[in-house]
Amino acid sequence: MVRVWAPGRINLIGEHTDYNEGLVLPLAIDLGITMEVGPLADRIELSSDAEEEPVSIQLPVEDPSSLRPAWARYVGAVAAELGAREGVRGRLRSTLPARSGLSSSAALEVATALALGAEGPTREIAGLCQRAERRATGVPCGIMDQLASLAGEAGRALLIDCRDLGITPIRLPDDLAVIAYPTGQERSLDATPYAERRRQCELAAEIIGPLRDAQLADLACIDDSTLRARARHVISENERVREMVAALEAGDRRRAGEILVEGHRSLRADFEVSTPHIDDLVESLLAIPGVLGARLTGAGFGGTLVVLTDPGIDLGGGWPVRASSGAWRSDA
Ligand code: GLA
Repeated sequence: MVRVWAPGRINLIGEHTDYNEGLVLPLAIDLGITMEVGPLADRIELSSDAEEEPVSIQLPVEDPSSLRPAWARYVGAVAAELGAREGVRGRLRSTLPARSGLSSSAALEVATALALGAEGPTREIAGLCQRAERRATGVPCGIMDQLASLAGEAGRALLIDCRDLGITPIRLPDDLAVIAYPTGQERSLDATPYAERRRQCELAAEIIGPLRDAQLADLACIDDSTLRARARHVISENERVREMVAALEAGDRRRAGEILVEGHRSLRADFEVSTPHIDDLVESLLAIPGVLGARLTGAGFGGTLVVLTDPGIDLGGGWPVRASSGAWRSDA
């Protein structure tokens, strides 16, 4: 019997920067997927307490995107990337709300990869799972979610440089609470304009060079106002990641909260991935005493807010989350 744990993630700051060779600051959280499996010849059979229909997949997998139910695409895509011929049978339990922007799909990919025996450096397994996500859904996602799930550390956020995949753990102040607050707007990435946003960043980079290296002054060279706004978000967001690291290291919780608010403004006005409902929710949370900052986390278009508060604040909803260790596998 093999037991696997793969956490979801919440991103403190650094949104839509990973596929621009930029900086991100996620933490693996104590919500995630547990999988218990035994060996099975040439099939994968999994049931989930979070899904009505089980997964039953014949190996080897050639076209995971056509598998049903929808969650079988992620499982099958990992099997396809691994070239798996020997399967598993078992069940999974999830404490992670699906379609919430807390990387339930990355956790499922990572759990499947470990259950099927993936080995090697963390970055390689993360890359395999990232390719699986793309193959399953066609969404050209970055590597943040899969890498955060694998590399998480208790009590620490992960500063990831998505150019060289260097990871620096950043200790979170003890008196800072992180709350995942659902917006009530569920979504799957493949039903969003994520790919269009990515394409716009690439078009901007064709004019001013990699956005990771660009300066705000370079924006004047971009005539198209939409591309200029997308690039402004990415350039300023990388700077916010650096500022957040400095604020956390200095224990400056007030500044950490302000950076979230600045990040949300940029996602709303420049990257246009928020909604009026979400903007109202952020404003109403900011009015609660003890709330230091709030913003949309993950790709946007719905999903979850990351809220920083004083310890012990009751927001009337949401889940307090802790920075957790990364994915593991244990063979009993
Ligand atoms: C999704 C993607 C990530 C990243 C975020 C936005 O979660 O999977 O790679 O691009 O959106 O920061």
